[in-house]
Amino acid sequence: MTTLGTPLSPSATRVMLLGSGELGKEVLIALQRLGVETIAVDRYENAPGHQVAHHARTITMSDPVQLKALIEAERPHLVVPEIEAIATPMLEQLEAAGVVRVIPTARAARLTMDREGIRRLAAETLGLPTSPYKFCDSLEELQTAIDAGIGYPCIVKPVMSSSGKGQSKIDGPADVKKAWDYAMAGGRVGPGRVIVEGFIDFDYEITQLTVRALGAGGDVETHFCEPIGHVQVSGDYVESWQPHRMSPAALAESRRVAQAVTDNLGGQGLFGVELFVKGDQVWFSEVSPRPHDTGMVTMTTQWQNEFELHARAILGLPVNTALKSPGASAVIYGGVDAPGIVFDGVDEALRVPNSELRLFGKPESFLKRRMGVALVHDADVEVARTQAKLAASKVRPRTA
Ligand SMILES: Nc1ncnc2c1ncn2[C@@H]1O[C@H](COP(=O)(O)OP(=O)(O)O)[C@@H](O)[C@H]1O
Ligand SMILES: [Mg+2]
Repeated sequence: MTTLGTPLSPSATRVMLLGSGELGKEVLIALQRLGVETIAVDRYENAPGHQVAHHARTITMSDPVQLKALIEAERPHLVVPEIEAIATPMLEQLEAAGVVRVIPTARAARLTMDREGIRRLAAETLGLPTSPYKFCDSLEELQTAIDAGIGYPCIVKPVMSSSGKGQSKIDGPADVKKAWDYAMAGGRVGPGRVIVEGFIDFDYEITQLTVRALGAGGDVETHFCEPIGHVQVSGDYVESWQPHRMSPAALAESRRVAQAVTDNLGGQGLFGVELFVKGDQVWFSEVSPRPHDTGMVTMTTQWQNEFELHARAILGLPVNTALKSPGASAVIYGGVDAPGIVFDGVDEALRVPNSELRLFGKPESFLKRRMGVALVHDADVEVARTQAKLAASKVRPRTA
């Protein structure tokens, strides 16, 4: 049985989000609706999630000392990582000491915070199909790995990075040094390791949202959402849609892979399993043990969007992953480097039939920063894609 309390009272159920960007903001809203007391944490003030939580805190989450001090001071029942750049070994310590429960587990947060932990788990421990790969600590090692089997084309990524940062494709020997230098500049923590992966010439890629939630008997059950198709430009998502039509064999294989990874990571919550598909063949790429950016489309396509599913699953509540309508999402980028920008054309965007908008409220815009998303539902997923891009294009961010 799940019992929830009253926020801002001694009975409160208290949940701390580590990372309070646009995805965390929606998780916080879902928790607020269940009367959960929320603590939003980010590295800068007035982050999107700070604006909708009971308590807003600003710390360096990759600093174990700051992280421990905050968790011990706030004493949340649950700690929910929303980003990867967190001092996860400290979360493991605090979880092991019984101080806090980490979603889905502290181990899952640690394994997915760099590309090496999760890739080795998927490919070497679980034997799941992935692109061929090698980890390299120098330009020489990178060249050797390519020559010894990875070949061209291939992709180089810093092991600690996300949203395509520091990632580039290598088409031939002339690109190797450039890719190495780019990765060194784009990694999250100083110069470090890279993964080099053989390039998979996939037909399409999907996110398989997978939820581990408690059933009536108290055991964890796995639920799958309809597959989400998406387009990535320079390693960053620009549009997504649901459902993505797949052959029954490719869908079954995708879910087998998703189940194997999420069973191993364990705990309760929603996961975004990224997969490449060619014909009936499926490759595991990576997994977020939390809502996924491409899954923002579920705010218009599902009865319970991915944020509500996460909130319910972590609280031990039942979930429903059914589709409400096909639909699509299209990203709105800042387009300018400036604080406190304004958005023209919001009315025009919302005149697109069946459209919705989310403007995240980020205090500062960058050229390529995601500032909002347009959502459209339509019985025809292709119409939804066109209309979502149209709605997104109507929103014109500019300096105030
Ligand atoms: N081995 C690969 N072969 C082909 N495309 C890839 C490969 N690895 C990554 N990509 C493309 O780059 C995108 C981002 O890569 P990903 O590993 O998901 O990085 P991030 O953690 O930044 O999301 C993928 O969604 C896919 O479009
Ligand atoms: Mg990815």
